[in-house]
Amino acid sequence: MRPVILAIESSCDETSASVIRNGKVLNNVIASQTVHQKYGGVVPELASRAHQQHILQVVNEAITASGITPAELNAIAFTRGPGLLGSLLVGASFAKGMAVALGIPLIEVNHMEAHILAHFIDEPKPAFPFLCLTVSGGHTQLVRVNDYLAMEVVGETRDDAVGEAFDKAAKMLGFPYPGGPLIDYHAQQGNPNAFQFPTTSIPGLDFSFSGIKTAFMYFLRDQQVGNPDFIEERKNDICASLQKNLINTLMKNLIKATQETSINRVAIAGGVAANSGLRKAIQQQATALGWTVFIPEFQYCTDNAAMIAMAAHYKYLANQFSGLEVAPLANLAIGA
Ligand code: KG4
Ligand code: ZN
Repeated sequence: MRPVILAIESSCDETSASVIRNGKVLNNVIASQTVHQKYGGVVPELASRAHQQHILQVVNEAITASGITPAELNAIAFTRGPGLLGSLLVGASFAKGMAVALGIPLIEVNHMEAHILAHFIDEPKPAFPFLCLTVSGGHTQLVRVNDYLAMEVVGETRDDAVGEAFDKAAKMLGFPYPGGPLIDYHAQQGNPNAFQFPTTSIPGLDFSFSGIKTAFMYFLRDQQVGNPDFIEERKNDICASLQKNLINTLMKNLIKATQETSINRVAIAGGVAANSGLRKAIQQQATALGWTVFIPEFQYCTDNAAMIAMAAHYKYLANQFSGLEVAPLANLAIGA
């Protein structure tokens, strides 16, 4: 069987569709939502509406660009969760409608597992087992990946996700949402040792980012008392120092996880995997500690349907289909 699958992603603020044939991704159409910029974060109600407005066009474009006809599809895949419930419902309902109309099965995909399986879209593909640091706007997890569909969370954030820490710090600096890429941009021109921020250390492999967020808020407030132009004058150094702190926290647990598991194949996934500082830090550790590292292409780091399609391909081969009664879950856990 050489399955042809249409996959739909709508968990947050990107409406995306992709067609995969026999494990090869044919395209990855993404409509990003700009409506949230002025609010400093994704507004769930606006996100669901924008998905409704974009989904038909995005799906049509993916099918047309792939050169297949809907009759050739063997299954429809969609993101079941985790994500914003209203947004997930748009993708799930659309996928169900298509599956019924075409008389083909439905495949539900876990968004976080899909971020990890994005590593199987292109070469080089990691061998099992490997460790994946999954870092996005909603999640920060260390995952032991035993097989395509067998993953175990070995550490995760107890409060904010690292992407959230980037975005909230960016908001304090007056950057539009999502501010992570802008912090990255300014950090590349600044001195990472200009300012020191505290780190929260907790036992085991879990993370915590709420302390740094609060410390950063007070730091900016105190500095601006003496100099109202502090942010404008030191933007690059502030971003570089904050980014260094966040990356060090991630790297510390990643190193610990490789030591505890004796696994030296290391991957990163999720939106924050696009961060230039994190990519560099992982490469440096690879040289120092003998890791083999896997870093996805930029377009497969942030939310996209190609990764959903890749996950759906493996689920199709494993005969893992869903009934029409399947409902989206905002907090769907890995391995659930
Ligand atoms: O995986 P993703 O697209 O969506 C979620 O599932 O959350 O991740 C989005 C997150 C946002 O917090 C965004 O600021 C962050 O990824 N991000 C970055 C960079 N590019 C995206 N953070 C730091 N540096 C970047 N270059
Ligand atoms: Zn994501």
